[in-house]
Amino acid sequence: MEHVVVFTGAGISAESGLGTFRDAEGLWHRYNVYDLATPEAFERDPATVWQWYRERRRRAAEAEPNAGHRALAELETRLPDLRLVTQNVDGLHQRAGHRDVIEFHGNVHANRCHREGRLVEVDDATDAPPRCPRCGGPVRPGVVWFGEVIPRAVLARAFAAAEACELLIAVGTSAQVYPAAGLAEIARRHGARIAEVNPGDTDLSAAVDIRIQARAAEALPQVAARLAPEQP
Ligand code: OAD
Repeated sequence: MEHVVVFTGAGISAESGLGTFRDAEGLWHRYNVYDLATPEAFERDPATVWQWYRERRRRAAEAEPNAGHRALAELETRLPDLRLVTQNVDGLHQRAGHRDVIEFHGNVHANRCHREGRLVEVDDATDAPPRCPRCGGPVRPGVVWFGEVIPRAVLARAFAAAEACELLIAVGTSAQVYPAAGLAEIARRHGARIAEVNPGDTDLSAAVDIRIQARAAEALPQVAARLAPEQP
């Protein structure tokens, strides 16, 4: 197996102590997504949105990558063509040593000018959104919100990887948010097999070729050992 895509969601970071979105205790059961994760919410109440993401940034910084993140980082060094597409914004794949991460929904540690869209370096420990050093517009977290488009280069890389792979492994995602969730569909249409690592049922479960009903930190070291056994 040479061309493999791993497509991760919040479930892979659950064992690092970060909440998922749609499980019973998930963030979107406790908070209203339209008050926090849309451009309209930020324009209406920038300080509330900014502070909520500041808290998510703090939690992500305090969390540690787990055995699932580490197994994938190790696999990247052993497979000729492993593409990792993550919906997570927590940066834990990179902190586990993964070199090339396609961040579909951006990164909570990055900041962008809301007016111009470009990434900016600012002091982000503030209570209100800082101002863009270039244009003075409000700075926002570097994540993709509902109703926003995925950056074109990111979309192109992720779709190309899905089209070219022989196997796509979906890990810890409910596969409800598009266009990300469409990656498995694209891979399947191009002849790939689909595997899923998830203790629960998802929109993909019924149609996958290989279903591993287990937690990511437990299953991924075994999956990695099967895909690329360590050389003696
Ligand atoms: P969800 O919260 O929708 O789904 C999390 C999935 O992880 C569920 O299917 C759980 O069964 C599974 N899960 C829980 N614990 C697990 C574990 N230890 N190991 C493996 N799987 C586990 O999260 P996502 O699918 O990532 O978008 O959500 C997609 C997007 O919706 C996010 O990127 C975010 C959110 O709104 C934006 O913010 C744009």
